[in-house]
Amino acid sequence: MNSLIPIRFQPTDLDTIAEATGRVVIIVPPEGKLDPAARRANRLTKGGVARLVESEKFEKAKSGQVITLAWPAGMQAEALDVLVLPRRPSVTEARKAGAALAKVKGASAMQVMAGSQNKAEELALGIALRSYSFDAHKTADAEDPGEVVIAHTKSDEVAEAAAPLLAIAEGVHMTRDLINEPANVLTTTEFADRVSALAELGVEVEILDEDKLAELGMRTLLSVGQGSDSPSKVAVMQWKGGAKDDAPLALVGKGVVFDTGGISLKPSAGMEDMTMDMGGAGVVAGTMKALALRKAKANVVGLIGLVENMPSGNATRPGDVVTSMKGDTVEIINTDAEGRLVLCDVMWYAQERFKPAGMIDLATLTGAIIIGLGHENAGVFSNNDELCNSFLKAAGAEDEGAWRMPLGKAYDDLLKSRIADMKNIGGRPAGSITAAQFLARFVKEDTPWIHLDIAGVASVKGETSYAPKGATGWGVMALNRLVQDRFEQG
Ligand code: BES
Ligand code: MN
Ligand code: ZN
Repeated sequence: MNSLIPIRFQPTDLDTIAEATGRVVIIVPPEGKLDPAARRANRLTKGGVARLVESEKFEKAKSGQVITLAWPAGMQAEALDVLVLPRRPSVTEARKAGAALAKVKGASAMQVMAGSQNKAEELALGIALRSYSFDAHKTADAEDPGEVVIAHTKSDEVAEAAAPLLAIAEGVHMTRDLINEPANVLTTTEFADRVSALAELGVEVEILDEDKLAELGMRTLLSVGQGSDSPSKVAVMQWKGGAKDDAPLALVGKGVVFDTGGISLKPSAGMEDMTMDMGGAGVVAGTMKALALRKAKANVVGLIGLVENMPSGNATRPGDVVTSMKGDTVEIINTDAEGRLVLCDVMWYAQERFKPAGMIDLATLTGAIIIGLGHENAGVFSNNDELCNSFLKAAGAEDEGAWRMPLGKAYDDLLKSRIADMKNIGGRPAGSITAAQFLARFVKEDTPWIHLDIAGVASVKGETSYAPKGATGWGVMALNRLVQDRFEQG
């Protein structure tokens, strides 16, 4: 599994600038004023830094940009990286600057002369988030990542502020690892094993097997997995960092480890992307890890439905009618609309067992949300303006795109079935909304609820601000912040 790049914080010692091997970073604000470290580097390079700062290149440089002086004379380093960043950057500016450093870093060691830079801990988070690659299946020996040293006048304070942020980065990396992992490796059993390991961090983990799920009446969930040789499972992860009697926040994730579409088979082109159809469950697992690592003072329970959607002689057919744990019957028109069948049982179970103060489900639920919002925003659906607005605010603060979508009776009416309580699809128009309406039928009236359709944001073809191509980890940071803002005490 991917571990975080090592980042150390140490007091500033200007003499290290001449001696450090690897890369040395100095930070220069857009107005060009040199701090002591930049002045020392300037002296060592016989005015090289000052000439750079006076150049047109520097004048045109944007905040967060890195300008590299390779093999600088007078220094042992292979590169002197000049990071353009205001003394008082915004959180996002600092993180993006960190990500820019991670991109130039490669496998070399890097010493960042941060001086008395504001938000140096956010810079560290940016480095940690962007220093990610998924090479579990590359046979070449993994390169030693080369540590990052952040030298700061108040290094102890920065280290303390960075600790919870780096915990979040570990959660993000866990989510990315899960989402990037192919389905022959990340089976339902392997997924359950990986979340079971969170027990080491103080998370109480239970794995419910098929017999237990049948006993609970989770027939819609089981109907999705019955065509696969991998056993369906539900994992329950409890983090009890809050007051004993505080109702928890419930996070529910769609964990379809592979979605062939079932008997309503998907076309072969692009089907390989359906290894990421456990993205919702991946975000829930990574968030639980982040909360546990930073010892969040809140009660949060994560529940994930782990199944594989395969065609076989035992698979659910279009036209089958199944009964959910709630008791409502569902006519399965299309076996490719499976995510909602998994979620509805897990959501019902979450409410029956935990009486949560709020419930948020995450799912790579519909292709239609990608048509609507592309890869920039997740679709947000909610029955509660207050919780929803808190989430949108948290997502905005973490630079994770989220856009609210409507719900309404007219959409719900599209789910009427001739022979059962509902159909599992509502047709092509408003496909993401009818999917959300389906879920809404399994939300109790007094449960504040948010549904996040992350099909467009969980894994993308190009790199993003904080991640290389592939899994992004979208949602871990927003959910962590929501917990911090709304559910944590003191
Ligand atoms: N897992 C897919 C949705 C999806 C599509 C996720 C693209 C990520 C990228 C989901 O199970 C699905 O197949 N949805 C169908 C629903 C339809 C049958 C009503 C879809 O979006 O086509
Ligand atoms: Mn599907
Ligand atoms: Zn799916």
